[in-house]
Amino acid sequence: MANVTVIGAQWGDEGKGKIVDWLASRADAVVRFQGGHNAGHTLVIDGKTYKLSLLPSGIVSGTLSVIGNGVVLDPWALRDEVAKVEGQGVSITDENLAIADNCPLILPLHRDLDGLRETAAGKGKIGTTGRGIGPAYEDKVGRRAIRVCDLAHLDTLEPQLDRLCAHHDALRAGFGQPPVDRAALLEELREIAPFVLRFAQPVWKRLKKVRRAGAKILFEGAQGVLLDVDHGTYPFVTSSNTVSGTAASGSGLGPNSTGFVLGIVKAYTTRVGSGPFPTELEDDIGQRLGERGHEFGTVTGRKRRVGWFDAVLVRQSCAISGVTGIALTKIDVLDGLERVKICTGYRLRGKVYDYLPSHAADQADCEPIYEEMPGWSESTAGARSYADLPANAIKYIQRIQELIECPVALVSTSPERDDTILMRDPFVD
Ligand code: IMP
Repeated sequence: MANVTVIGAQWGDEGKGKIVDWLASRADAVVRFQGGHNAGHTLVIDGKTYKLSLLPSGIVSGTLSVIGNGVVLDPWALRDEVAKVEGQGVSITDENLAIADNCPLILPLHRDLDGLRETAAGKGKIGTTGRGIGPAYEDKVGRRAIRVCDLAHLDTLEPQLDRLCAHHDALRAGFGQPPVDRAALLEELREIAPFVLRFAQPVWKRLKKVRRAGAKILFEGAQGVLLDVDHGTYPFVTSSNTVSGTAASGSGLGPNSTGFVLGIVKAYTTRVGSGPFPTELEDDIGQRLGERGHEFGTVTGRKRRVGWFDAVLVRQSCAISGVTGIALTKIDVLDGLERVKICTGYRLRGKVYDYLPSHAADQADCEPIYEEMPGWSESTAGARSYADLPANAIKYIQRIQELIECPVALVSTSPERDDTILMRDPFVD
């Protein structure tokens, strides 16, 4: 398996950034295939912190970085991010960044609609990142999106914009908002077009060439399987498919190119935004884990909700995404706890479930069934071999492996790239 697909196996924020960066340093190309700048990946390299949202993590190490057609692209956010990362000494050119020319754009009208809907929903809101992700995907599927390739045809863009704006004007009127200023939007697109077009190309063709040359491709997923629009905790999900299968359709390669599927799994659970969370901790332990784990959103700065490890959810994610092995992250956050708990099933109206039922109301009513294990007082932070781990931490990892029915390929013990225990090398296995 020459290629590796990295996906989050929980609700996102599993620590993908570090693992992806570690793998990116050995890949020949890194591909983002879904989501947009709702993602937030933190990389720490040689003590320097990089925060990426839209750019593939390979960009920092100079590896060919590809934004695939499955992504929704906010060109202004991209320009800001490129400027920020270049300001940290990273060179970004059309040699190391390629953007799919069939990638749909996120426009200011999408951000407007995202915000209007969330405000109107009040307590029932999804808790989106407010980046316009959902509305942009709706327009893609509704066949009225403006795509990167349209920026090369500004002379024929007006009728397309009219069609798109007519749709949005009707929605905006419902929220008591004025129609979209078409002339201003066209002018904004005219202004940003040369920046985006510099990187635009049919990336499927570039990837085909890369693949034929025997290169190693790393597919970098964003968010997590439980936020998948089909398989996640619907409707409290993002608007893309976050499962491994999307690596193929979202980049223009076949399903046989995705290779080793590495599911990133945090040693406990977090989620941002609304929606069911059976193992959520609203007590001192949750507070402590949130503080120790720095559980604040990279993109929005929101405090993440925190809970015990849920083996039911991770087993489900691994099955749905065909996970070959997992990377277990942030085990050090559990250091010093007297006891640790793992959810092994749910009790729902007198019945025991070994999976998360599909209906939101059922999901909300699931009561976790826990297995308790002794914790460990020693530090796991910075461990680089299995032998460096306390016996109880090893037992915890082994129990997780059994319950999720999937092997642990590596364990991450700090944000630093080298603080990693490798059991199976995804690029070699
Ligand atoms: P949206 O993707 O902005 O539409 O947000 C939909 C849901 O996905 C919300 O619950 C967000 O908090 C969540 N979400 C989106 N991106 C991320 C991410 O990168 N990490 C964790 N949660 C995310």
